[in-house]
Amino acid sequence: MYKNSLTTIEDLSTGQIEDILDLAQQIESDRDTFYGLARCRIMASLFLEPSTRTRGSFEAAMKRLGGEVVTVADAKSSSMSKGESLADTIRIWSSYSDLIVIRHPWEGAARLAAEYSDVPVINAGDGSHEHPTQTLLDLYTLRKEFGTLEGRKIVLCGDLKNGRTIHSLIYALLRFGAVIIFVPGEGLGLPDHVVHKIETQYGKPLQKIRHPGLEALYTDGSHTSGDTVDAIYMTPSQPHTLTLFDSARLNLGKDESFALYATRRQGERESSEETGVQQKYPRIDATILNRAEFSKAFILHPLPRVDELSTTIDSDPRSKYFEQAKNGVPVRMALMALMLGLKPWQRGTDQDTTAVTGQPVSSPQKVQCMNPGCVAQQEPESTKQSFMLFSKPTIRLACSYCERETMPAYYAYPTGEVYYPVDTLPRRRPDLSRFYFFTEEPSARTKGLRVPKRGLVGRAPQERS
Ligand code: CP
Repeated sequence: MYKNSLTTIEDLSTGQIEDILDLAQQIESDRDTFYGLARCRIMASLFLEPSTRTRGSFEAAMKRLGGEVVTVADAKSSSMSKGESLADTIRIWSSYSDLIVIRHPWEGAARLAAEYSDVPVINAGDGSHEHPTQTLLDLYTLRKEFGTLEGRKIVLCGDLKNGRTIHSLIYALLRFGAVIIFVPGEGLGLPDHVVHKIETQYGKPLQKIRHPGLEALYTDGSHTSGDTVDAIYMTPSQPHTLTLFDSARLNLGKDESFALYATRRQGERESSEETGVQQKYPRIDATILNRAEFSKAFILHPLPRVDELSTTIDSDPRSKYFEQAKNGVPVRMALMALMLGLKPWQRGTDQDTTAVTGQPVSSPQKVQCMNPGCVAQQEPESTKQSFMLFSKPTIRLACSYCERETMPAYYAYPTGEVYYPVDTLPRRRPDLSRFYFFTEEPSARTKGLRVPKRGLVGRAPQERS
């Protein structure tokens, strides 16, 4: 865990996730015996974006443990509205409480909070980056339905671009060996940095498939017969050998249940050009559930919903989203009890995500994260800009706060006098942590570096979003 905090789902080892789910199950079956566990503990509940479920269930969970809660329910009631920095706000709250739960519109805000806090921080949603505790309750709900996640199918629908719950959930499902199928709204597919992470860090290839049942999720009839969806298909023993995804393998509705996980369009994160534009979007209603392919589906949704999940299916036994929200209380009780050391971790706490990590680059001079929603852009004076460098599919620097990628165009050796195009970086690279990277030539020249005698063949810098 980064500073004993939960800023992304990858801060937890697989063993820790299992510990949380097991303890949540014990709490759910005998809740009142856990009352008093958090006596004299205070949770600071900093919600600088609206919330019903996450704030409500965290606060209820702390009270069910016998602890106290101090709440900031919106930015207007905090001195942040007078211009106080997030870093200072966190320093203060960390001196008043034993645990900080923060929701914030900036991506990477929870990571910054963890850097400045003396007490553990829990990310309750940071912009469109991650929402790891939603993932924990999603896993809990899935485990209740499936027993085990290995080989189980989960169809993730809707706004996969801005839906932070989706990003955290994917990384966790990959670890547990689930099969994931994506049915995005038009223009709302996974961001590049998430696709790169799935393919290169987790080593799971995405493949296009066609499936009439999944295409039918575009219930406004806007789909065409050529529509395809993306799937991650994994055979644990031979993860890279499958080149063709046979949609018949999905067997939807035939012999096994699967999860259909819907999400709303995240209107608050759309650009002004995107707002109000009608695009095809997957929706679930009674007509969908009447199709043979969905006879064994169960329906999840992190809520709130807009119009992608019809209220006409609320009483259908396959609809599990209100139970999913209810699971937030025991899961968050378990998480806080373990993070505060009120219950011991039973399994390993070492990182075992199996994800390949990049090389840390702590001083990439003149490279700044280009994501305007990143905390490193919003509060540069409080952030220590650093990146992880990856070389596949291209050389890229992933921001340590928001994980968005910047493509450096040039590099220089730590003691060098010249700069080079980044695609000439030696294949057998030495430790890159002290190398310099630049997105543009003027930055390199400002540092006193010059063009090599044989000249440059540089590429234009660009951001991957
Ligand atoms: N699922 C979820 O995060 O809901 P809230 O926005 O109401 O907290």
